[in-house]
Amino acid sequence: MRILGIETSCDETAAAIVEDGRRLCAQALASQVEVHARFGGVVPEVASRRHTEVVTRVTEQAMREAGLEWHQLDAIAVTCGPGLLGALLVGVSAAKGYALATGLPLIGVHHIAGHVAAAFIGTDLRPPVLALVVSGGHTEILRVDEQFRFERLGGTKDDAAGEAYDKVARLLGLRYPGGPKVDALAQRGRPDAFAFPRSMLDEDNFDFSFSGLKTAVWHELERCRRSGETVAVEDVCASFQQAVIDVLVEKTARAVAATGLRTVVLAGGVAANQGLRRALAARAEADGFRVQAPPLALCTDNGAMIAAAAYFAWSRGQRADLTLNAHAVLSLEDWQAGRV
Ligand code: KG4
Ligand code: ZN
Repeated sequence: MRILGIETSCDETAAAIVEDGRRLCAQALASQVEVHARFGGVVPEVASRRHTEVVTRVTEQAMREAGLEWHQLDAIAVTCGPGLLGALLVGVSAAKGYALATGLPLIGVHHIAGHVAAAFIGTDLRPPVLALVVSGGHTEILRVDEQFRFERLGGTKDDAAGEAYDKVARLLGLRYPGGPKVDALAQRGRPDAFAFPRSMLDEDNFDFSFSGLKTAVWHELERCRRSGETVAVEDVCASFQQAVIDVLVEKTARAVAATGLRTVVLAGGVAANQGLRRALAARAEADGFRVQAPPLALCTDNGAMIAAAAYFAWSRGQRADLTLNAHAVLSLEDWQAGRV
C-alpha cells in the first residue's frame, strides 16, 4: 500500500511517499527555519503563509522524485493535529484538495503517532513497544500496542524537552532552533561543571518537568554575570544536557521495568541528540532492552513519518473523509477513536 504523507504542523513543509509503512519511496521538504530564526522562534502567521506558498510544490516534487502518477497511490495522509492551527489547516486543505481531485481515500494523522512511526521505516520492528517522544512540543512516554494504538504513561508537566533546549540556547545567545547547537557545544564541555536539578526523579511516575531546569540555568548565568565570572558556554550546555538526559533515560528505564516491554522507540526532534542517543543505548545495554531511533533526517518533522503512521492507522481501520478538520490540541485517544 502506497501512501502520500503531508506534514505542515509547525515550520517544515514536507511530503513523502512510503510503501506499507516501511519503505521510503521519496521525500521532499522545505524548511522555514531561516525565516523564523531572525524572530527567535516560530511566528504562526508567517508559518501558515509560507506553507501556503510551497505545499503544492513540495508535494509534487515528492511525487516526481518517486516517479509516480497519482493513480499509483492508495491513499493520502495528512497531519491533522496537534500543532499550529493555521499551519495545520494548509496541509489539511491541500490533502483534501488532492483527495477530491484524485478520488483517493484520506487519512488524518496525529503528529506524535507520526514521530513514533518514523522509527519503523526501513526496519522490521513490530509493536508492542514503548516510545519516548521528545520534540519541541512534546515529551511523553507511551505504550504502543500491536495495532499501533497508544496509551500515555506520562509526560511533561510544563516545558517540552526541545522547548527547554531552545530556551536555554536563547539564554546563551544561540540562534533558533538551539537544540542542535547546544548538543554540539555539549560535546566539548564538562557535564559536571554545574549541578543543575533532575526534576521529578524521586517521584514514582513517568512524568517530567523541565521549566525549573531552564530557570536554574538562568540563575547560574545571572550569578556569573553579576560576579563577573566568565561562563564557559560548553560547560553550561554539557551540564544542562546531562540533567535532561539523566531524567529522560532513568524514567524510560523505569517504564521498561514496569511494562515488561523490551523495545524502546526514541522519537521526535530531540531524538537527534547525540548525547541522548548514546546514553539511552548504554542504559539499554546494561538493562537488556533494545532502542530503535529513526535516522537523523527522520527525527525532526517530515512527511515520511505521516505516511508511515497512516499505514498503521489504516491497517486497523482508521479513515477520514472530506469533513476532516485541523486541531491545534488533539489527544492520541481522540485521534485513534476517530474524533477528528
Ligand atoms: O519534532 P520536531 O522537528 O518538531 C516538533 O514537533 O516540535 O522537534 C524540533 C525540536 C526543537 O526544539 C529542536 O531544538 C530540537 O527538536 N532538536 C534538538 C536536536 N535537534 C533538534 N534538541 C537537542 N539536540 C538535537 N540534536
Ligand atoms: Zn514534530
